[in-house]
Amino acid sequence: MNIQAPKGTKDILPENIYKWQYVENLFRKLCSVYGCTEIRTPMFENTELFKRGVGETTDVVQKEMYTFEDKGGRSITLKPEGTSPAVRAFIENGLFNDAQPTKLYYFTPCFRYEKMQKGRYREHHQFGIEVCGSKEASIDAEVISLVMRVYKELGIEGVQLKINSMGCPNCRKKYNKALKEFLADKHEQLCETCKSRFEKNPLRILDCKVNSCKVIVKGAPIISDYICEECATHFESLKKYLNVTDIDFEVDPLIVRGLDYYTKTVFEVLDKNGLALCGGGRYDNLIKEIGGPDVPAMGFGMGIERLLMSLEENGIEIPMEPYMELYVGSMHEESKYEAIKIVKNLREKGIKCECNHIERSVKAQMKYANKIGSYFTIILGEDEIQSRTAKIKRMSDGEQFEINLDELEEIVNIVNKA
Ligand code: HAM
Repeated sequence: MNIQAPKGTKDILPENIYKWQYVENLFRKLCSVYGCTEIRTPMFENTELFKRGVGETTDVVQKEMYTFEDKGGRSITLKPEGTSPAVRAFIENGLFNDAQPTKLYYFTPCFRYEKMQKGRYREHHQFGIEVCGSKEASIDAEVISLVMRVYKELGIEGVQLKINSMGCPNCRKKYNKALKEFLADKHEQLCETCKSRFEKNPLRILDCKVNSCKVIVKGAPIISDYICEECATHFESLKKYLNVTDIDFEVDPLIVRGLDYYTKTVFEVLDKNGLALCGGGRYDNLIKEIGGPDVPAMGFGMGIERLLMSLEENGIEIPMEPYMELYVGSMHEESKYEAIKIVKNLREKGIKCECNHIERSVKAQMKYANKIGSYFTIILGEDEIQSRTAKIKRMSDGEQFEINLDELEEIVNIVNKA
């Protein structure tokens, strides 16, 4: 039997790669105008990082991580998300000594052992930003504005920005107490994982994917009713910054995110079907909790597969660069030497060109030139080699132009004008 790709993974084929490259280039361009620089962290980390960062009682850590022991007996995990590794690198490399805030961006594959469904994979890719060193709500608004620019630039309509405040550990204490009181007489009906969450971290019961738990939490107290004055002021300030920068939002008190590190601002961007395209928020205690200085931070992760899905659903076509500008075919051995020479020299001048590397007829070569979408073709035979002239043919309308094989600039001009 043929070996297939593991369940929940996808090959990104040459025919689709231009879409990935297009959105990646857009992210890079936006990041540069927002003053963010790229960071690349390892594909795997010590498991302890995610246990402490994402949180022991989250679904990601309890059920979804790809964790294994390496040959040295260390527990290693393929990264399920990009925030903890970026923060680990921020601490380990002393980036907090640089001018603050530190604005980082990344593209990363993430690995989560999840139940497969539309838009949910076991390897997915995220574009993310992490800004460390500012506790101001203005940075929250700036980060959110970058997210919204991505959708605007791509022309995706109907996306909804939802924001909430998760408060600080003090607010959380009061909230957890209220939540436990609400759940106390329903404890026995909770799934086994949530029974253990009840004592350690009742908030995580709210995002349990087990159906019976989803029913139990209906009508539970909401966190925004328990936030302290400082957190409430921060949230009001965020709303003002979003208003002055013309960013539409909706306050959704039910957003609690699935990762433990969040404090104060949390947000999600949903597509018109309610699928989460992006999620993020502030995490003021994470850097300290994983061994760094007391530095606040804020960021987001945007699913690239979901973004591309959304583009397709919106009927938005990504411009495709011509794969090939010129095909130089040949009819016999001597003309093949000439074709190889011409193609090498034209490539040096930046022309995308191709020649024949498989024994086939002129007709088959023309068919191939068509298949690779070449704008122009030149076919070289004995006559062309002798006269040092040839015809360059525009494939779209069949028009031909005479060229001198020793004047490559002529060819370059014709191709560039197309
Ligand atoms: P997250 O909400 O877990 O947040 O993931 C961010 C985005 O990644 C989601 O909104 C979704 O678009 C995409 N995504 C997540 N899981 C999958 C999956 N299994 N298949 C396809 N796409 C998926 C984080 O990961 C945080 N690190 C975000 C963050 C950065 N918060 C602060 N800084």
